[in-house]
Amino acid sequence: MSKKTIIITGANTGIGFAAARILGRSGDKYTVILACRSEERGQEAVRTIKEESPNADVVYMNLDLSSMASVHKFVENFHASGRRLHVLCNNAGMNVGNTSNTPQITQDGFEVTMATNHLGKLPWEQIWVSYYGIRLFSKLPWELIWVNFKEIILGKLQLYDGNR
Ligand SMILES: NC(=O)c1ccc[n+]([C@@H]2O[C@H](COP(=O)([O-])OP(=O)(O)OC[C@H]3O[C@@H](n4cnc5c(N)ncnc54)[C@H](OP(=O)(O)O)[C@@H]3O)[C@@H](O)[C@H]2O)c1
Repeated sequence: MSKKTIIITGANTGIGFAAARILGRSGDKYTVILACRSEERGQEAVRTIKEESPNADVVYMNLDLSSMASVHKFVENFHASGRRLHVLCNNAGMNVGNTSNTPQITQDGFEVTMATNHLGKLPWEQIWVSYYGIRLFSKLPWELIWVNFKEIILGKLQLYDGNR
């Protein structure tokens, strides 16, 4: 059986790290890409997994979901690595909530929670498609897993100001 490549976003801690750790135990079956915004935390997670499972095939790659430029760069780097994608686990997320009247705005001009939890995840399919040349709305040749929180359904978007 050929190895599967699995990208897990936000894999340096929490659920993403737990998943990477478990999959890392099967280094003969999976290459796990830990897509994290902090090189220090990402490399630390890679070290921890390799200490626990020396055969783990785990790799850190930089990805900051709150930056469209970073999302594009990540896809470009992944493509350049020559690996084929099998599973994309869109796990990274943050829960800031409406605690402040002064929203934190990203370089792209979006509120940071909105950018990280939603906008940064949306262009993935189109970007991958542009690299792999697959027509939009046709079945993707990889599995897509979304890890999200209930507020995505229950929360209220303020349409007059999506940055709040
Ligand atoms: N834990 C729960 O009870 C629960 C319940 C419902 C839904 N969820 C969802 O499950 C997912 C994981 O939850 P968790 O509890 O494991 O969260 P967590 O421990 O807070 O981990 C979140 C991960 O996302 C990363 N992240 C945050 N902003 C990012 C960005 N801009 N770019 C790239 N990575 C970023 C974090 O990186 P840093 O370490 O650099 O911050 C971290 O690795 C989230 O989407 C969350 O909404 C969790």
